[in-house]
Amino acid sequence: MRILIATLALLTLGAAEDRSQAWLRYAHVPNAAQHISVPSRIVALNATSGSPISTAQQELKRGIKSITGQRMQRKRSPDQQSTTIIIGTSDAYAKQYGNLTGSEDLVEDGFILDTESSNVIIVGQNERGALYGAFEYLSRLAQGNFAPTAGVQNPQAPIRWTNEWDNLDGSIERGYGGASIFFRNGYVVDNVTRVAEFARLLASLRINGVIVNNVNANASLLSDRNVEGLARLADAMRPYGVQLGISLNFASPQTFGGLSTFDPLDPSVDAWWANITNVIYERVPDMAGYLVKANSEGQPGPLTYNRTLADGANMFAKAVNPHGGIVMFRAFVYDNHINETNWKADRANAAVEFFQDLDGKFDENVVVQIKYGPIDFQVREPPNPLFSTLRYESTAIELQITPEYLGQNDHLVYLGPLWKEILEYDLRADGRPSKVKDIVTGKRFKQPLGGYAGVVGAGSNTTWLGSHMALSNLYAYGRLAWDASLDPQAILQDWIRLTFGFDEQVMSTITDMSMRSWPAYENYSGNLGIQTLTDIVYTHFGPNPASQDNNGWGQWTRADNFSIGMDRTVKNGTGNAGQYPPEIAAMFEDIETTPDNLLLWFHHVPYTQKLKSGKTVIQHFYDAHYEGAAVAQEFVKQWESLKGKIDQERYENVLFEQKFQAGHSLVWRDSINIFYYNLSEIADENNRVGNHPYRIEAENMALSGYKTYAVSPFHTASGFTAIITTSNTTTGVATTNAAFASGTYDVAVNYYDLIGGRSKYQLQIGNRTVGQWVGDAEDKLGHAPSIYLDGHSATRITFNGVQVQQGDEVRITGQADGIEPAPLDYVSFLPPGIVD
Ligand SMILES: *[C@@H]1O[C@H](CO)[C@@H](O)[C@H](O)[C@H]1NC(C)=O
Ligand SMILES: *[C@@H]1O[C@H](CO)[C@@H](O)[C@H](O)[C@H]1NC(C)=O
Ligand SMILES: *[C@@H]1O[C@H](CO)[C@@H](O)[C@H](O)[C@H]1NC(C)=O
Ligand SMILES: *[C@@H]1O[C@H](CO)[C@@H](O)[C@H](O)[C@H]1NC(C)=O
Ligand SMILES: *[C@@H]1O[C@H](CO)[C@@H](O)[C@H](O)[C@H]1NC(C)=O
Ligand SMILES: *[C@@H]1O[C@H](CO)[C@@H](O)[C@H](O)[C@H]1NC(C)=O
Ligand SMILES: *[C@@H]1O[C@H](CO)[C@@H](O)[C@H](O)[C@H]1NC(C)=O
Ligand SMILES: *[C@@H]1O[C@H](CO)[C@@H](O)[C@H](O)[C@H]1NC(C)=O
Ligand SMILES: *[C@@H]1O[C@H](CO)[C@@H](O)[C@H](O)[C@H]1NC(C)=O
Ligand SMILES: *[C@@H]1O[C@H](CO)[C@@H](O)[C@H](O)[C@H]1NC(C)=O
Ligand SMILES: *[C@@H]1O[C@H](CO)[C@@H](O)[C@H](O)[C@H]1NC(C)=O
Ligand SMILES: *[C@@H]1O[C@H](CO)[C@@H](O)[C@H](O)[C@H]1NC(C)=O
Repeated sequence: MRILIATLALLTLGAAEDRSQAWLRYAHVPNAAQHISVPSRIVALNATSGSPISTAQQELKRGIKSITGQRMQRKRSPDQQSTTIIIGTSDAYAKQYGNLTGSEDLVEDGFILDTESSNVIIVGQNERGALYGAFEYLSRLAQGNFAPTAGVQNPQAPIRWTNEWDNLDGSIERGYGGASIFFRNGYVVDNVTRVAEFARLLASLRINGVIVNNVNANASLLSDRNVEGLARLADAMRPYGVQLGISLNFASPQTFGGLSTFDPLDPSVDAWWANITNVIYERVPDMAGYLVKANSEGQPGPLTYNRTLADGANMFAKAVNPHGGIVMFRAFVYDNHINETNWKADRANAAVEFFQDLDGKFDENVVVQIKYGPIDFQVREPPNPLFSTLRYESTAIELQITPEYLGQNDHLVYLGPLWKEILEYDLRADGRPSKVKDIVTGKRFKQPLGGYAGVVGAGSNTTWLGSHMALSNLYAYGRLAWDASLDPQAILQDWIRLTFGFDEQVMSTITDMSMRSWPAYENYSGNLGIQTLTDIVYTHFGPNPASQDNNGWGQWTRADNFSIGMDRTVKNGTGNAGQYPPEIAAMFEDIETTPDNLLLWFHHVPYTQKLKSGKTVIQHFYDAHYEGAAVAQEFVKQWESLKGKIDQERYENVLFEQKFQAGHSLVWRDSINIFYYNLSEIADENNRVGNHPYRIEAENMALSGYKTYAVSPFHTASGFTAIITTSNTTTGVATTNAAFASGTYDVAVNYYDLIGGRSKYQLQIGNRTVGQWVGDAEDKLGHAPSIYLDGHSATRITFNGVQVQQGDEVRITGQADGIEPAPLDYVSFLPPGIVD
């Protein structure tokens, strides 16, 4: 691949850009014309208005003009003088020019891009495939890759969908990028401009379907007005070859249709679904199908009537079958009222228990949609054993692009490597190679359908996801869904080139940050397969390990004073290890052969258990938390090294997020470490945990207008205590004298930024104002907010290079606002090189 780094590095930084273009900015590539003969003509074979071919034609003109600066003309036929792009379906091409080599190998949505001859030939198996070919050509040009290419590119899986968890009221469940682009105030939006823009992004990733509403579905989606609206959405996405799908509420016949029942075996219920399905298909003839979450987390389903999950799924399958639709049926079915006193109870067993006897009982057009792990998008899980249990069903893997448990787009966590690890996992069904990626494509068990469902959470934020950096995850999802053999780092680097240009330092820095981000996050959240350790009963954002246990949700750690972990062995535990094929089961059954990173997923062990690394479990917890948080601090410096190489707006925006992450990683570090220290009473060998010589606790300062406050959970405040103003109209003052030696310090203040108030703060040292700030994370960050002082709201602000004289008065003034009582935790005086 000839990538012209040297010449392209001189690229000027664009002025204000439309950020919603993401990786489709088509930044100008200087000197492109020196490397290729820039096509000046385009021949589209049947560019019927509104078709993907017509879209491809417009996209090629727009992209080539933007990348090369040259305008193209639309022509009826190629000419000899200049390079022409010929684009169309393989059938249309054959009619005009004879069969194209390789076209017999094309599968649905596949394409051929041939730039080896004098013309550029882009031929799709269907119109959508041709559009994909056009995007591929533009992506190569935009990356300065002018090497000739020819060959067939086929998808590995037919289903490459996103799932949007948008509610009709315009909110998005687990979305961190603003309000819905699909719904508002109970109805489908009128203005679909943004929907078309989203479809364009997805088409460039070869994603071919979007479920537009939440799996926790609202039956009023089926109202006449909303069905008209769905047609509008489908019309907006159709030019991009993106098909619309919807989530259904199982109880709709009763709650919306007025029937007395929603029993799937009741003929009136069947007829009701058949009718409403026909009504929708009349307006959306190419609807992709339905997604159904049934009997899960309080949702209604067939079990209400003692019918099987297959009975439920097949009811929908029969309704959509005449229209060529499919049903994605979620395997996320479990009892959320299990009892921890039962050592053998295990939510991780649920999917196999609910589905194993139904293998072969679902209709052909049903696809069982399985989350990648047995629990719920945790920072580390083994693959879901259901992938190897179902031999006679088409399956799809559900991945989460919106990082519900992984920092909610306020922490940089590049997920390509996590997904890749799961997709490459060999489950050894029947002792034969059985990689997850080959199961979900239908290849391993010879199933007709299969593929990918990615939960995106795209919203009306300019960046779609609430963060520039988070877009690498959407990009990687689409690329892996098309071809799971790709290398996640190579995918990332394509995204970097397309998003930030060609500077080598930009490339190496963002690559390094991104590739270290998942391991760092795992290090400062939950280690060794214990799950993320976030607050599972509230916002899923900050630390709260105790929330895992003593409730019916079954995300238990079983941590006590001596030991921790889930015993999932067959010999003494929940038997979950035995749900895997024999070779894998044997590995997980034996503590010696279980990899360290899943030790606590499968085994209950003392804190003093030795790992393969030689460390004890508890010391690994401590060390990993220090290492992970230290890496998050480096991200700030790494990003700062790019100043001047990234346009101001994105530079500042990402810097703000990286600083937030650096601060919040310390909240995580200290919170988890002190929690397990408190429980185990085993000291950190390196004496860091609970020992913070550079801190001044707010509760130890002289307080006026402030009072102390015992934070819950206790481990989310340094010293377990914070201070809050005595009322929500008060301005509080906390003072002390700096006992540290005179010198230059980075001064960090840890405070709590609650939603529902924008407190004002001021830090003065020796009568000089060091800084002023506002507790306004609700305006600047996208994560799920908290109304409490806790691990979600705990925040740090740092002032670098502050001159401090020993004995200087340190004075923090906090002015309460709304429900936010200007809460403060501590101040750190950090000598150069110290992070605490
Ligand atoms: C041209 O494209 C339109 C829109 O996709 C399609 O309906 C029509 O069948 C095509 N015509 C031919 C001759 O292929
Ligand atoms: C072109 O391909 C089609 C479909 O593969 C085949 O039926 C036809 O015979 C081929 N025509 C020529 C001229 O090779
Ligand atoms: C369903 O949506 C309608 C319209 O927005 C709303 O009034 C109703 O409360 C929603 N129902 C549920 C269960 O959320
Ligand atoms: C529709 O939305 C787009 C982008 O969000 C905006 O630019 C446009 O003005 C809107 N159109 C109307 C008619 O409101
Ligand atoms: C079919 O559904 C439509 C839309 O909800 C409704 O207006 C119509 O009455 C239904 N027809 C039958 C036969 O139930
Ligand atoms: C389902 O079966 C259980 C026992 O098998 C029975 O108690 C219950 O009444 C049944 N429910 C319905 C709705 O038929
Ligand atoms: C869990 O089981 C124990 C022992 O059988 C029982 O005492 C307890 O009440 C149960 N807890 C719940 C929430 O059902
Ligand atoms: C076996 O299970 C029991 C609970 O039934 C547990 O207390 C014990 O620690 C387990 N033994 C081993 C060796 O893991
Ligand atoms: C994570 O922690 C492990 C174990 O302590 C360490 O080897 C690794 O370097 C750390 N990686 C990052 C990115 O924090
Ligand atoms: C700081 O200001 C206070 C009140 O304005 C004053 O009394 C004090 O002398 C000043 N201290 C220093 C070190 O300037
Ligand atoms: C987008 O989201 C970011 C992060 O949540 C926020 O700072 C920014 O103000 C939002 N911008 C728009 C236009 O919604
Ligand atoms: C103080 O809090 C109360 C109750 O939350 C609220 O109603 C009131 O508006 C707040 N006052 C101010 C000045 O923010």
